[in-house]
Amino acid sequence: MDNRKREGMNIEEREFADLDELVGSIEETIRKEEREIYTERTLAEAYNPKNVGELDNPDGTARVTGPCGDTVQIHLQVEDGRIVDSKFITDGCGASAACGSVVTELIRGKTIEEAIEVGDRDVLSILGGLPEENIHCALLAVNTLKAALEDYKNINKKEGE
Ligand code: FES
Repeated sequence: MDNRKREGMNIEEREFADLDELVGSIEETIRKEEREIYTERTLAEAYNPKNVGELDNPDGTARVTGPCGDTVQIHLQVEDGRIVDSKFITDGCGASAACGSVVTELIRGKTIEEAIEVGDRDVLSILGGLPEENIHCALLAVNTLKAALEDYKNINKKEGE
């Protein structure tokens, strides 16, 4: 911080300014470490995930807990056999938010049959890969999608009976 600005402050203001600087430098260190581990695309999706939330009247839903103990929920809205909207929430890591974001974007406009074909490899390829310890996060998002598609099919089957 510029010394003249600092001189015009009282003790309390200086302490806040010091704390601000410390927090800024810690955040910068964390970002730098994250950039060494995750791709730019993963960080962009994790910090600004798309389609976060829930739908009011979903046509298919699923909530799946992975081996790490984290849970992903996906809601689907289907019109004329195509996915027109989907939302997700996760209580998991940043990678799970990135994967939920990519999965919900990937299936938009797809038919149910096309969406079933979406796999963790597609998610990993879009993200440019994930560290070994986060591969299961992509699988969790995809398994939740498959469970939501299954739920949609079951509801539809019942309604058709
Ligand atoms: Fe649990 Fe990523 S979803 S560690």
